[in-house]
Amino acid sequence: MNKWFVPLVLLVAPALLMAGGAPPNSDSLPTEVAKGRQIYEQYCAACHGWQGEGAANWNKPDEKGEMPPPPHDETGHTWRHSDAMLVIEYLRTLWTDDQRRYQQNESQDINQAESPS
Ligand code: HEC
Repeated sequence: MNKWFVPLVLLVAPALLMAGGAPPNSDSLPTEVAKGRQIYEQYCAACHGWQGEGAANWNKPDEKGEMPPPPHDETGHTWRHSDAMLVIEYLRTLWTDDQRRYQQNESQDINQAESPS
């Protein structure tokens, strides 16, 4: 192996992560996220967008009076829902740290309410 390979990877990998847009999520396994991404692309992306961007003007009813698919990324409000309502590790990677914390708290409240110790 070329002796420059390892330092180069160490330099480039974090830059790629930042450029990729999805913040690294320390509390979920990469394989779970990859599986989530697959499920998402298969069942959800057609409506919610390939990057979770949702429909343009998603927060106004369309001409039929129906709400368009909202985004799941940090511009939407998916991060406000508890785990009980959401399926997806993958969606978490689309949010900011603050939004992930909020969503984690929201899920803990639900879990405590449903299983009194
Ligand atoms: C046929 C289109 C369609 C598909 C496919 C679809 N959705 Fe949706 N989804 C919508 C629409 C439209 C809404 C908004 C409904 C409303 O506000 O009345 C919505 C709302 C949601 C919400 C609530 C969003 C929020 O921020 O409050 C979540 C969460 C959600 N969808 C998750 C998913 C997931 C996960 C999948 C895939 C397993 C999926 N959806 C597949 C159309 C779709």
